[in-house]
Amino acid sequence: MQTHQYEAIIVGAGGAGLMAALYASKGGAKVAVVSKLYPTRSHTGTAQGGIGAALGNLDEDNPLWHAYDTVKGGDYLADQNAAKVLAYEAVDAVIELEHMGLPFDRTPEGKISQRRFGGHTSNFGEKPVRRACHAADRTGHMILQTLYQQCIKHHVQFFDEYHCVDLIVNDGKVAGIVAIALGTGEIHIFHGKAILFATGGWGRVWSVTSNAHSLTGDGSAVVYRRGIPMQDMEFYQFHPTGIYRMGILITEGVRGEGGILVNRHGERFMEKYAPKIKDLASRDVVSRAIYMEIRNGNGIKGKDYVYLDVRPETVNRYLAEAGETRRIDREYIEKKLPDILDFCRTYLGVDPVSEPMPIQPTAHYAMGGIPTNVNAEVVVDANWTVLPGLYAAGECACVSCHGANRLGTNSLVDLVVFGRRGGKAIAEYVKQADYTPLPDKPSAEIEAELERIRHSNGRTRPAELRKTMQDVMMADVGVFREERGMQSALDCVRELKQRYNTDLSIDDRGFKFNTDLFEAWELGCLLDMAEATAVSALARKESRGGHSREDFRERDDANWLVHSLVYRKTDEPYPQESIELEVNHDKKVDMSLADEDERFVPKVRVY
Ligand code: FUM
Repeated sequence: MQTHQYEAIIVGAGGAGLMAALYASKGGAKVAVVSKLYPTRSHTGTAQGGIGAALGNLDEDNPLWHAYDTVKGGDYLADQNAAKVLAYEAVDAVIELEHMGLPFDRTPEGKISQRRFGGHTSNFGEKPVRRACHAADRTGHMILQTLYQQCIKHHVQFFDEYHCVDLIVNDGKVAGIVAIALGTGEIHIFHGKAILFATGGWGRVWSVTSNAHSLTGDGSAVVYRRGIPMQDMEFYQFHPTGIYRMGILITEGVRGEGGILVNRHGERFMEKYAPKIKDLASRDVVSRAIYMEIRNGNGIKGKDYVYLDVRPETVNRYLAEAGETRRIDREYIEKKLPDILDFCRTYLGVDPVSEPMPIQPTAHYAMGGIPTNVNAEVVVDANWTVLPGLYAAGECACVSCHGANRLGTNSLVDLVVFGRRGGKAIAEYVKQADYTPLPDKPSAEIEAELERIRHSNGRTRPAELRKTMQDVMMADVGVFREERGMQSALDCVRELKQRYNTDLSIDDRGFKFNTDLFEAWELGCLLDMAEATAVSALARKESRGGHSREDFRERDDANWLVHSLVYRKTDEPYPQESIELEVNHDKKVDMSLADEDERFVPKVRVY
């Protein structure tokens, strides 16, 4: 076992982790980044269409309009102070990325190019606005490369392919983390004053997902198992356009460039569901519309998919109909959407320039997560009580700036804005904080758990449990939900957890690159996230944003303008029996903008 001491330990090397590391380091802290992946393989690299910021380079824009869209798109569950921070700080965060060297696409005048995205409007919903700053359809990839270079320049120390498996808490205080070096299996203790989790989401809970195999909710599970609640877990976003059956993301930027959704009759069906803003309605609205079409037998060939059509002749016809002068051609699509064309040509044998793309909704983004305030400090209850030294940012965190449904492009904004705030807060914190002493045997519990899995010789393969979990969560805790289905999914997940704890079987008992062991351990994290999602979803008896219940179809602001906090009712991180969860709804939504401007008071969303 090796022990390392760093003032700040950042777990995860995506956009939020790198931004936090950079700012903590610039602020004078000694910083280590611990990442189970090589940093530039982090999932931020798959974000395609853009990062939203009210730069106003192509259309008049205003950060307050961005904040409004964020709150409205989030179905009024967003904490309005957080949405305001997100929208206002997006502007200089994007300029900062530009100054770091990020190669954004340019307008003919040399300004950062911007495109339309769902739910982004000017003047409080009046008309679509070009707000998504982009580098072709590889915006996340460029952010990741840019921030990684900056971290190297600022002497951040990286521990690549070190898998964080536990949070060390001593006498109620955060003391560090336990990580395993994947190459050797050796245990490393990272003793720190401040720990920031930026470990991304858990899309692998569902069977069709845009998330990489690595998105297994481990950071969130590690924190949750140490008694921290998870907030708003019922709100999970399905992106409308994943490649049929594979789930791989087809950016909303396709619709931003003029692409449209059509059913088997060639009908542009979004005109029925969102007459004003059509294909650029927010994601929850579009995903539900696609499911409605499929249910009504309007899927392509009667199956469970529809088409996304970005052929120049189709786009130009609708642009003309809308009275727009802009026209596109093949070269334009090749330049603006190169990765999308490549994915479709490679994986489907479909060329989007001459054929429509088969798509279906894909599990994409967790609005819920580790509760934090706007400085990325983790809060542990409805009174916003901060746990000193513990931070979270990015998708694993719930600030909550996205409320019940995140607008496209706001994930990248969230990473850089709240990653930066977290890094700054940590730099200040470590100046006055002491190290909490490490307890005796800080890795004892996790070592015992890993040894249990390593030597398991039951009858159940992790892959079998994973597939069952993904299928039931997709069927019953997906785009549409109702009590009976969710309860049966929860019962099933609990039975899977029981089998995971008592009847598991893996083959590799070794130490070096034991992916068999770590995939099994990650499955345990996914099962925890699935259970917390289903329990929180059953508890919320209304429909809002990404949580659409067929037995409670209306949004109910009188009773449900509150966050959910779900806790495990045990002090044991790895009990062998199933444990009870407790959900409370005592945490109120911050409505500070509504106090200043009546447009931020909840009202029915009309698109
Ligand atoms: O559609 C997209 O490019 C995805 C962006 C996002 O999730 O923000």
